[in-house]
Amino acid sequence: MFSISRSDFGPDFTFGAATAAYQIEGGQTDGRGPSIWDSFSATPGNVQNGDTGRDACDHYNRWPADLDLIRDGGFDAYRFSFAWPRLIPEGTGAINQAGLDFYDRLIDGMLARGIKPYATLYHWDLPSALQDKGGWMNRDIAFWLGDYASLIGQKFGDRLHATATINEPWCVAFLSHFLGIHAPGYRDIRAAARAMHHVLLAHGTAIDALRAEGVKNLGIVLNLEKSEPATQSPEDVAATDIGDALFNRWYLDGVLKGEYPEALTGNDFFAQHLPAGYEKDMDVVSRPLDWLGINYYTRGLYKSAPEQLGFPIAQAKGDLETTEMGWEIYPQGLTDLLVRVSNDYTKIPLYVTENGMAEVEGDSDPRRVDYYEAHLKAVLNARAAGADVRGYFAWSLLDNYEWAEGYNKRFGLVHVDYATQARTPKASFRAFQGLLHNTK
Ligand code: FCB
Repeated sequence: MFSISRSDFGPDFTFGAATAAYQIEGGQTDGRGPSIWDSFSATPGNVQNGDTGRDACDHYNRWPADLDLIRDGGFDAYRFSFAWPRLIPEGTGAINQAGLDFYDRLIDGMLARGIKPYATLYHWDLPSALQDKGGWMNRDIAFWLGDYASLIGQKFGDRLHATATINEPWCVAFLSHFLGIHAPGYRDIRAAARAMHHVLLAHGTAIDALRAEGVKNLGIVLNLEKSEPATQSPEDVAATDIGDALFNRWYLDGVLKGEYPEALTGNDFFAQHLPAGYEKDMDVVSRPLDWLGINYYTRGLYKSAPEQLGFPIAQAKGDLETTEMGWEIYPQGLTDLLVRVSNDYTKIPLYVTENGMAEVEGDSDPRRVDYYEAHLKAVLNARAAGADVRGYFAWSLLDNYEWAEGYNKRFGLVHVDYATQARTPKASFRAFQGLLHNTK
């Protein structure tokens, strides 16, 4: 059980659970087109055990039981993502009716259970046909995403409580085009620089498209880390500034201030690879938003690496307790980030749209209960310090396909036996249930 109570968060605070389409749906034979994660995971060496999202949690068929879990947990909201290739198999053009029908059922199923739909348009499953045209490296992706956003607006907009354009643009751009860890697996500075700008241009274009369809309550979901130097040496502090610019400020400054950090635009190694004339797009990049989502897992600890060209930085190893992902557990970082965003960037409502930990398999997960409790307290501390945090979503409802880590990294409140697809609530699920059903 948690030692906090729901009333500590005030009457209007939203509690939810989060998932993403590719990580749970399966159901790939209804006319859905291929995505970059299908081919990336089918390429040996990219994903642990060669796991793919082909079957995942079979949520495509088991969604009624999964929505029942959300309701029974006492959650107010469900953060899910639409699969672009399920709706528009080639990314542009023809629409897959079976895909529209699936999301109709899913959204109506939420509403019937009193669960608020928090939608994400893009959680990484880019239609392969668009990757063939350069994907995020091609400026046209802003229009492709814009058209897809219009479709979502027309078909579902009036039933969505909140809508985010992109999940974690750092991952879409840098992790996938510079570090090569996620699909499409590029390791190329020019590819990364282009993706970093185009992902935000596409975000702003999608905001315009959704607004034009009358969709309300629009935002974006950024993954932020608390950037800290390994030591107080000037070199490590300087490395931390670059790390912070790459991970946090590119996206925060871009979306909320309409500019990119000098640490990167003034760095010729990087700036020469940006698309020419990107400055003219910054109005679109920084379209006004109704809310900002923040995904938080850990801190980034930096040390200087002078031998490295361009970005002379390296990750240092910290000494805090770590999760099964090897990520340090650092609740104070969540408080610090929420307060930073509130003080330095925006007064629009903030949501923690993901937070959680990977733990060894089993339905007894006391460490995860402690993790959630500590981070929920961190949210309360941020609120006490003036940050307008309106909601918190646990990642994740279910154990699921953890991208390059495959099925072995388990983040769920609910255990999934992949052989039988049986769902078993864990102690962490029951801790939320206790918190949320006790509304006093
Ligand atoms: C985030 C992703 C989410 C999940 C968690 C653990 O970066 O948005 O899909 O993989 O990490």
